[in-house]
Amino acid sequence: MNPGIAQLQPYPFEKLAALKAGCEPPRTLEPIALYIGEPRHPTPSLITEALIAHLHGLAVYPSTRGLPALRQAIADWLTGRFALPAGSLDPERQILPVNGTREALFAIAQAVVDPSRAPLVLMPNPFYQIYEGAALLAGAQPHFLPCLPENGFFPDFASVDAATWDRCRLLYLCSPANPSGAVLDLDSLSRLIELAQAHDFVIASDECYAELYLDESTPPPGLLQAAAALGNTQFTGCICFHSLSKRSNAPGLRSGFVAGDARLIEQFYAYRTYHGCAMPLPTQHASLAAWSDEAHVRANRALYREKFAAVVELLAPVLPVEAPAAGFYLWPRTPIPDTDFVRRLFAEQNVTLLPGSFLSRPHNGQDPGANRVRIALVPPLDECVEAAWRIRRFVEGL
Ligand SMILES: Cc1ncc(COP(=O)(O)O)c(C=O)c1O
Repeated sequence: MNPGIAQLQPYPFEKLAALKAGCEPPRTLEPIALYIGEPRHPTPSLITEALIAHLHGLAVYPSTRGLPALRQAIADWLTGRFALPAGSLDPERQILPVNGTREALFAIAQAVVDPSRAPLVLMPNPFYQIYEGAALLAGAQPHFLPCLPENGFFPDFASVDAATWDRCRLLYLCSPANPSGAVLDLDSLSRLIELAQAHDFVIASDECYAELYLDESTPPPGLLQAAAALGNTQFTGCICFHSLSKRSNAPGLRSGFVAGDARLIEQFYAYRTYHGCAMPLPTQHASLAAWSDEAHVRANRALYREKFAAVVELLAPVLPVEAPAAGFYLWPRTPIPDTDFVRRLFAEQNVTLLPGSFLSRPHNGQDPGANRVRIALVPPLDECVEAAWRIRRFVEGL
Protein backbone atom coordinates (compact mmCIF):
# COMPACT_ATOMS: atom_id res chain seq x y z
CA MET A 1 0.00 0.00 0.00
CA ASN A 2 1.03 3.61 -0.38
CA PRO A 3 2.60 4.28 3.07
CA GLY A 4 0.99 7.74 3.08
CA ILE A 5 -2.44 6.16 3.53
CA ALA A 6 -1.59 4.94 7.03
CA GLN A 7 -0.55 8.49 7.94
CA LEU A 8 -3.81 10.12 6.90
CA GLN A 9 -5.71 11.72 9.76
CA PRO A 10 -9.44 11.27 10.28
CA TYR A 11 -11.32 14.14 8.68
CA PRO A 12 -12.39 16.91 11.14
CA PHE A 13 -16.04 15.94 10.74
CA GLU A 14 -15.30 12.34 11.77
CA LYS A 15 -13.59 13.65 14.91
CA LEU A 16 -16.58 15.88 15.52
CA ALA A 17 -19.05 12.97 15.25
CA ALA A 18 -16.97 11.07 17.83
CA LEU A 19 -16.86 14.14 20.11
CA LYS A 20 -20.65 14.50 20.03
CA ALA A 21 -21.34 10.78 20.49
CA GLY A 22 -23.49 10.09 23.53
CA CYS A 23 -24.73 13.69 23.94
CA GLU A 24 -28.47 14.20 24.00
CA PRO A 25 -29.31 17.81 23.16
CA PRO A 26 -32.70 19.16 24.27
CA ARG A 27 -35.43 17.98 21.90
CA THR A 28 -37.19 21.33 22.20
CA LEU A 29 -34.36 23.07 20.33
CA GLU A 30 -34.00 22.58 16.58
CA PRO A 31 -30.47 21.53 15.60
CA ILE A 32 -28.30 24.29 14.09
CA ALA A 33 -25.19 23.30 12.13
CA LEU A 34 -22.44 25.91 11.96
CA TYR A 35 -19.56 23.47 11.71
CA ILE A 36 -19.30 22.82 7.99
CA GLY A 37 -18.28 25.31 5.32
CA GLU A 38 -21.10 24.36 3.00
CA PRO A 39 -22.87 27.42 1.60
CA ARG A 40 -26.63 27.34 2.17
CA HIS A 41 -27.77 30.34 0.11
CA PRO A 42 -29.75 29.18 -2.92
CA THR A 43 -27.79 28.30 -6.05
CA PRO A 44 -28.58 31.05 -8.60
CA SER A 45 -31.04 30.01 -11.30
CA LEU A 46 -28.62 31.12 -14.04
CA ILE A 47 -26.48 28.15 -12.99
CA THR A 48 -29.24 25.57 -12.64
CA GLU A 49 -30.88 26.66 -15.89
CA ALA A 50 -27.62 26.44 -17.84
CA LEU A 51 -27.05 23.00 -16.36
CA ILE A 52 -30.50 21.78 -17.39
CA ALA A 53 -30.28 23.35 -20.85
CA HIS A 54 -27.07 21.41 -21.52
CA LEU A 55 -27.97 18.03 -20.10
CA HIS A 56 -27.77 16.55 -23.58
CA GLY A 57 -24.00 17.08 -23.20
CA LEU A 58 -23.98 13.93 -21.07
CA ALA A 59 -23.93 11.99 -24.35
CA VAL A 60 -20.28 12.80 -25.02
CA TYR A 61 -16.98 12.38 -23.21
CA PRO A 62 -15.72 15.82 -22.19
CA SER A 63 -12.08 16.75 -22.74
CA THR A 64 -9.68 17.36 -19.86
CA ARG A 65 -8.81 20.77 -21.26
CA GLY A 66 -12.41 21.94 -21.22
CA LEU A 67 -14.41 24.08 -23.62
CA PRO A 68 -12.49 27.01 -25.13
CA ALA A 69 -15.44 29.28 -24.29
CA LEU A 70 -15.24 28.32 -20.61
CA ARG A 71 -11.49 28.95 -20.47
CA GLN A 72 -11.97 32.27 -22.23
CA ALA A 73 -14.70 33.29 -19.74
CA ILE A 74 -12.35 32.36 -16.87
CA ALA A 75 -9.45 34.29 -18.42
CA ASP A 76 -11.72 37.34 -18.80
CA TRP A 77 -12.92 37.00 -15.23
CA LEU A 78 -9.39 36.66 -13.80
CA THR A 79 -8.08 39.54 -15.89
CA GLY A 80 -10.86 41.86 -14.72
CA ARG A 81 -10.91 40.73 -11.12
CA PHE A 82 -7.15 40.92 -10.54
CA ALA A 83 -6.37 43.76 -12.96
CA LEU A 84 -3.97 41.56 -14.96
CA PRO A 85 -2.34 43.03 -18.04
CA ALA A 86 -4.63 42.49 -21.03
CA GLY A 87 -3.77 39.27 -22.84
CA SER A 88 -1.31 38.07 -20.17
CA LEU A 89 -3.33 34.89 -19.58
CA ASP A 90 -3.51 32.49 -22.49
CA PRO A 91 -6.71 30.42 -22.06
CA GLU A 92 -5.16 27.66 -24.20
CA ARG A 93 -2.09 27.16 -22.04
CA GLN A 94 -2.74 28.70 -18.65
CA ILE A 95 -6.20 27.64 -17.51
CA LEU A 96 -7.79 24.28 -16.74
CA PRO A 97 -11.25 23.56 -15.34
CA VAL A 98 -11.30 21.30 -12.27
CA ASN A 99 -14.06 19.41 -10.52
CA GLY A 100 -13.98 21.55 -7.42
CA THR A 101 -10.74 22.88 -5.99
CA ARG A 102 -10.52 20.06 -3.48
CA GLU A 103 -9.53 17.51 -6.10
CA ALA A 104 -7.19 19.97 -7.79
CA LEU A 105 -5.47 21.00 -4.55
CA PHE A 106 -4.87 17.31 -3.95
CA ALA A 107 -3.76 16.53 -7.49
CA ILE A 108 -1.29 19.39 -7.80
CA ALA A 109 0.95 17.82 -5.15
CA GLN A 110 0.93 14.52 -7.02
CA ALA A 111 1.98 16.33 -10.18
CA VAL A 112 4.76 18.59 -8.85
CA VAL A 113 6.39 16.62 -6.02
CA ASP A 114 9.41 14.39 -6.73
CA PRO A 115 9.34 12.00 -3.74
CA SER A 116 12.94 10.91 -4.27
CA ARG A 117 14.28 14.29 -3.09
CA ALA A 118 13.05 14.29 0.55
CA PRO A 119 10.64 17.08 -0.32
CA LEU A 120 8.70 19.26 2.08
CA VAL A 121 5.25 20.64 1.38
CA LEU A 122 4.72 23.80 3.44
CA MET A 123 1.24 24.72 4.58
CA PRO A 124 -0.54 26.97 7.06
CA ASN A 125 -1.63 25.54 10.39
CA PRO A 126 -4.64 25.40 10.93
CA PHE A 127 -5.42 24.39 7.40
CA TYR A 128 -7.74 22.73 4.93
CA GLN A 129 -6.92 19.09 5.55
CA ILE A 130 -6.56 18.17 1.88
CA TYR A 131 -3.15 19.89 1.80
CA GLU A 132 -1.76 17.48 4.37
CA GLY A 133 -3.20 14.35 2.72
CA ALA A 134 -1.98 15.53 -0.67
CA ALA A 135 1.55 15.95 0.66
CA LEU A 136 1.57 12.55 2.37
CA LEU A 137 0.22 10.66 -0.62
CA ALA A 138 2.70 12.41 -2.89
CA GLY A 139 5.54 11.06 -0.73
CA ALA A 140 6.42 14.43 0.80
CA GLN A 141 6.61 15.54 4.39
CA PRO A 142 4.01 18.12 5.43
CA HIS A 143 5.66 21.07 7.15
CA PHE A 144 3.25 23.13 9.25
CA LEU A 145 3.56 26.90 9.61
CA PRO A 146 1.59 28.19 12.61
CA CYS A 147 -0.92 30.98 11.93
CA LEU A 148 -1.13 33.02 15.11
CA PRO A 149 -3.06 36.20 15.87
CA GLU A 150 0.17 38.14 16.51
CA ASN A 151 1.03 37.58 12.85
CA GLY A 152 -2.41 38.37 11.47
CA PHE A 153 -3.32 34.65 11.36
CA PHE A 154 -0.75 33.98 8.64
CA PRO A 155 2.55 32.12 8.95
CA ASP A 156 5.57 34.15 9.92
CA PHE A 157 7.26 33.42 6.62
CA ALA A 158 10.33 35.46 7.58
CA SER A 159 11.11 32.93 10.32
CA VAL A 160 11.35 30.01 7.87
CA ASP A 161 15.03 29.20 7.34
CA ALA A 162 16.78 28.85 3.96
CA ALA A 163 17.33 25.10 4.41
CA THR A 164 13.55 24.61 4.77
CA TRP A 165 12.84 26.73 1.71
CA ASP A 166 15.46 24.70 -0.18
CA ARG A 167 13.63 21.47 0.61
CA CYS A 168 10.24 22.99 -0.09
CA ARG A 169 8.75 21.78 -3.35
CA LEU A 170 5.26 23.15 -2.85
CA LEU A 171 3.82 25.89 -0.66
CA TYR A 172 0.08 25.94 -0.08
CA LEU A 173 -1.31 29.37 0.62
CA CYS A 174 -4.89 29.97 1.68
CA SER A 175 -6.03 33.58 1.40
CA PRO A 176 -8.66 34.55 2.37
CA ALA A 177 -7.85 32.00 5.03
CA ASN A 178 -9.95 29.16 6.28
CA PRO A 179 -10.65 29.40 9.21
CA SER A 180 -9.57 32.95 10.17
CA GLY A 181 -10.88 34.90 7.17
CA ALA A 182 -7.65 36.93 7.14
CA VAL A 183 -6.32 38.21 3.82
CA LEU A 184 -2.68 38.17 2.75
CA ASP A 185 -1.59 41.53 1.33
CA LEU A 186 0.03 42.09 -2.03
CA ASP A 187 3.50 42.74 -0.56
CA SER A 188 3.52 39.44 1.32
CA LEU A 189 2.41 37.61 -1.81
CA SER A 190 5.18 39.31 -3.78
CA ARG A 191 7.84 38.35 -1.24
CA LEU A 192 6.68 34.72 -1.39
CA ILE A 193 6.90 34.71 -5.18
CA GLU A 194 10.49 35.98 -4.91
CA LEU A 195 11.27 33.21 -2.41
CA ALA A 196 9.69 30.63 -4.72
CA GLN A 197 11.96 31.78 -7.52
CA ALA A 198 15.05 31.85 -5.34
CA HIS A 199 14.43 28.37 -3.90
CA ASP A 200 12.67 26.78 -6.85
CA PHE A 201 9.33 25.79 -5.37
CA VAL A 202 5.76 26.09 -6.57
CA ILE A 203 3.10 28.22 -4.88
CA ALA A 204 -0.40 26.76 -4.91
CA SER A 205 -2.67 29.60 -3.87
CA ASP A 206 -6.06 28.45 -2.64
CA GLU A 207 -8.30 31.46 -3.30
CA CYS A 208 -11.65 29.72 -3.00
CA TYR A 209 -12.96 32.36 -0.53
CA ALA A 210 -11.67 35.30 -2.59
CA GLU A 211 -15.11 36.49 -3.63
CA LEU A 212 -16.66 36.61 -0.15
CA TYR A 213 -15.21 39.83 1.23
CA LEU A 214 -16.92 42.19 3.59
CA ASP A 215 -15.76 45.56 2.29
CA GLU A 216 -17.18 45.86 -1.21
CA SER A 217 -14.45 48.33 -2.15
CA THR A 218 -11.52 46.08 -1.09
CA PRO A 219 -11.45 42.74 -2.88
CA PRO A 220 -8.65 40.48 -1.61
CA PRO A 221 -5.56 40.43 -3.85
CA GLY A 222 -4.55 37.20 -5.56
CA LEU A 223 -1.31 35.41 -6.39
CA LEU A 224 -1.43 36.15 -10.12
CA GLN A 225 -2.02 39.82 -9.38
CA ALA A 226 1.09 39.88 -7.18
CA ALA A 227 3.12 38.08 -9.86
CA ALA A 228 2.02 40.55 -12.53
CA ALA A 229 2.84 43.47 -10.23
CA LEU A 230 6.39 42.09 -9.93
CA GLY A 231 6.66 41.92 -13.71
CA ASN A 232 6.32 38.11 -13.63
CA THR A 233 3.61 38.14 -16.28
CA GLN A 234 4.35 34.51 -17.19
CA PHE A 235 3.28 33.70 -13.60
CA THR A 236 6.37 31.50 -13.21
CA GLY A 237 6.06 29.16 -10.24
CA CYS A 238 2.52 30.34 -9.50
CA ILE A 239 -0.78 28.52 -9.74
CA CYS A 240 -4.06 29.72 -8.25
CA PHE A 241 -7.25 27.82 -7.44
CA HIS A 242 -10.73 29.32 -7.67
CA SER A 243 -14.07 27.72 -6.99
CA LEU A 244 -17.75 28.29 -7.65
CA SER A 245 -18.69 26.49 -4.44
CA LYS A 246 -18.55 29.51 -2.13
CA ARG A 247 -18.63 32.33 -4.69
CA SER A 248 -21.77 31.09 -6.39
CA ASN A 249 -23.36 28.83 -3.77
CA ALA A 250 -22.84 25.76 -5.89
CA PRO A 251 -20.83 23.29 -3.80
CA GLY A 252 -22.60 20.37 -5.46
CA LEU A 253 -21.70 21.51 -8.96
CA ARG A 254 -18.05 20.59 -8.28
CA SER A 255 -16.58 23.33 -10.34
CA GLY A 256 -13.45 25.42 -10.14
CA PHE A 257 -10.34 26.13 -12.14
CA VAL A 258 -6.59 26.42 -11.89
CA ALA A 259 -4.64 29.13 -13.65
CA GLY A 260 -1.06 30.33 -13.85
CA ASP A 261 2.36 29.20 -15.06
CA ALA A 262 1.95 27.57 -18.51
CA ARG A 263 4.77 25.10 -17.86
CA LEU A 264 3.12 23.89 -14.66
CA ILE A 265 -0.31 23.79 -16.22
CA GLU A 266 1.04 21.70 -19.10
CA GLN A 267 2.51 19.14 -16.69
CA PHE A 268 -0.63 19.23 -14.59
CA TYR A 269 -2.69 18.68 -17.74
CA ALA A 270 -0.59 15.61 -18.61
CA TYR A 271 -1.18 14.29 -15.08
CA ARG A 272 -4.91 14.99 -15.30
CA THR A 273 -5.45 13.13 -18.56
CA TYR A 274 -4.43 9.98 -16.66
CA HIS A 275 -6.21 11.00 -13.49
CA GLY A 276 -9.43 11.00 -15.54
CA CYS A 277 -11.10 14.08 -14.15
CA ALA A 278 -12.57 15.90 -17.15
CA MET A 279 -15.47 18.18 -16.23
CA PRO A 280 -18.86 17.04 -17.64
CA LEU A 281 -20.16 19.34 -20.37
CA PRO A 282 -23.35 20.45 -18.56
CA THR A 283 -21.15 21.49 -15.61
CA GLN A 284 -18.87 23.41 -17.96
CA HIS A 285 -21.82 25.34 -19.42
CA ALA A 286 -23.20 26.09 -15.96
CA SER A 287 -19.73 27.26 -14.90
CA LEU A 288 -19.42 29.50 -17.94
CA ALA A 289 -22.69 31.17 -16.96
CA ALA A 290 -21.51 31.57 -13.37
CA TRP A 291 -18.09 33.10 -14.16
CA SER A 292 -19.78 35.51 -16.57
CA ASP A 293 -22.06 37.03 -13.94
CA GLU A 294 -21.16 39.22 -10.95
CA ALA A 295 -24.62 40.34 -9.82
CA HIS A 296 -25.32 37.12 -7.93
CA VAL A 297 -21.90 37.32 -6.25
CA ARG A 298 -22.53 40.88 -5.04
CA ALA A 299 -25.90 39.77 -3.66
CA ASN A 300 -24.19 36.85 -1.95
CA ARG A 301 -21.66 39.13 -0.26
CA ALA A 302 -24.48 41.35 0.98
CA LEU A 303 -26.09 38.36 2.71
CA TYR A 304 -22.88 37.44 4.52
CA ARG A 305 -22.28 41.05 5.51
CA GLU A 306 -25.72 41.16 7.10
CA LYS A 307 -25.10 37.94 9.00
CA PHE A 308 -21.67 39.00 10.29
CA ALA A 309 -23.09 42.29 11.53
CA ALA A 310 -25.97 40.64 13.39
CA VAL A 311 -23.98 37.75 14.89
CA VAL A 312 -20.94 39.78 15.93
CA GLU A 313 -23.17 42.27 17.74
CA LEU A 314 -24.87 39.46 19.66
CA LEU A 315 -21.70 37.57 20.52
CA ALA A 316 -19.35 40.47 21.25
CA PRO A 317 -20.49 40.89 24.88
CA VAL A 318 -19.52 37.28 25.68
CA LEU A 319 -16.83 36.23 23.19
CA PRO A 320 -13.89 38.05 21.55
CA VAL A 321 -15.39 38.06 18.05
CA GLU A 322 -14.53 40.29 15.14
CA ALA A 323 -15.89 40.13 11.63
CA PRO A 324 -13.08 38.92 9.38
CA ALA A 325 -11.95 40.61 6.17
CA ALA A 326 -13.35 37.77 4.09
CA GLY A 327 -14.84 34.28 4.09
CA PHE A 328 -17.84 33.17 6.11
CA TYR A 329 -16.29 32.04 9.38
CA LEU A 330 -15.81 33.47 12.83
CA TRP A 331 -12.73 32.18 14.66
CA PRO A 332 -13.00 33.28 18.29
CA ARG A 333 -11.01 32.17 21.28
CA THR A 334 -13.02 30.05 23.74
CA PRO A 335 -13.11 30.52 27.52
CA ILE A 336 -12.77 26.74 28.02
CA PRO A 337 -10.94 24.16 25.85
CA ASP A 338 -12.40 24.13 22.35
CA THR A 339 -13.49 20.49 22.40
CA ASP A 340 -15.31 20.97 25.75
CA PHE A 341 -16.91 24.13 24.40
CA VAL A 342 -18.24 22.38 21.31
CA ARG A 343 -19.43 19.28 23.11
CA ARG A 344 -21.20 21.19 25.87
CA LEU A 345 -22.72 23.73 23.49
CA PHE A 346 -24.15 20.86 21.47
CA ALA A 347 -25.41 19.04 24.57
CA GLU A 348 -27.04 22.15 26.05
CA GLN A 349 -28.10 24.22 23.01
CA ASN A 350 -28.15 21.84 20.02
CA VAL A 351 -25.76 24.10 18.09
CA THR A 352 -22.76 22.44 16.44
CA LEU A 353 -19.46 24.30 15.87
CA LEU A 354 -16.08 22.90 14.88
CA PRO A 355 -13.29 22.77 17.49
CA GLY A 356 -10.27 24.70 16.22
CA SER A 357 -7.92 21.88 17.19
CA PHE A 358 -9.64 19.62 14.66
CA LEU A 359 -8.25 21.90 11.94
CA SER A 360 -4.69 22.14 13.25
CA ARG A 361 -1.71 20.06 14.31
CA PRO A 362 0.31 20.59 17.48
CA HIS A 363 3.76 21.76 16.50
CA ASN A 364 6.77 22.73 18.63
CA GLY A 365 4.70 22.52 21.79
CA GLN A 366 1.87 24.76 20.59
CA ASP A 367 -1.40 24.12 18.82
CA PRO A 368 -2.60 27.16 16.87
CA GLY A 369 -6.14 25.80 16.66
CA ALA A 370 -6.53 24.99 20.35
CA ASN A 371 -9.02 27.01 22.36
CA ARG A 372 -10.69 28.42 19.28
CA VAL A 373 -13.84 27.43 17.45
CA ARG A 374 -14.83 27.84 13.84
CA ILE A 375 -18.33 29.22 13.39
CA ALA A 376 -19.58 28.97 9.80
CA LEU A 377 -22.27 31.55 9.11
CA VAL A 378 -23.75 29.51 6.30
CA PRO A 379 -27.44 29.12 7.29
CA PRO A 380 -29.98 31.87 6.64
CA LEU A 381 -29.83 35.03 8.77
CA ASP A 382 -32.60 34.02 11.21
CA GLU A 383 -30.91 30.70 11.95
CA CYS A 384 -27.53 32.41 12.48
CA VAL A 385 -29.17 34.91 14.85
CA GLU A 386 -30.91 32.13 16.78
CA ALA A 387 -27.57 30.28 17.01
CA ALA A 388 -25.84 33.42 18.26
CA TRP A 389 -28.44 33.83 21.04
CA ARG A 390 -27.96 30.21 22.07
CA ILE A 391 -24.14 30.51 22.06
CA ARG A 392 -24.47 33.67 24.13
CA ARG A 393 -26.74 31.97 26.69
CA PHE A 394 -24.32 29.05 26.83
CA VAL A 395 -21.26 31.26 27.45
CA GLU A 396 -23.14 33.31 30.05
CA GLY A 397 -23.90 30.09 31.91
CA LEU A 398 -20.28 28.87 32.00
C1 LIG B 1 -9.83 26.42 2.15
C2 LIG B 1 -10.63 25.57 1.22
N1 LIG B 1 -10.10 25.22 0.05
C3 LIG B 1 -10.77 24.47 -0.83
C4 LIG B 1 -12.04 24.01 -0.54
C5 LIG B 1 -12.70 23.11 -1.54
O1 LIG B 1 -13.77 23.68 -2.19
P1 LIG B 1 -14.37 23.05 -3.50
O2 LIG B 1 -13.77 21.69 -3.71
O3 LIG B 1 -15.82 22.96 -3.25
O4 LIG B 1 -13.99 23.98 -4.62
C6 LIG B 1 -12.64 24.33 0.67
C7 LIG B 1 -13.99 23.83 1.00
O5 LIG B 1 -14.49 23.91 2.07
C8 LIG B 1 -11.92 25.14 1.57
O6 LIG B 1 -12.42 25.50 2.76
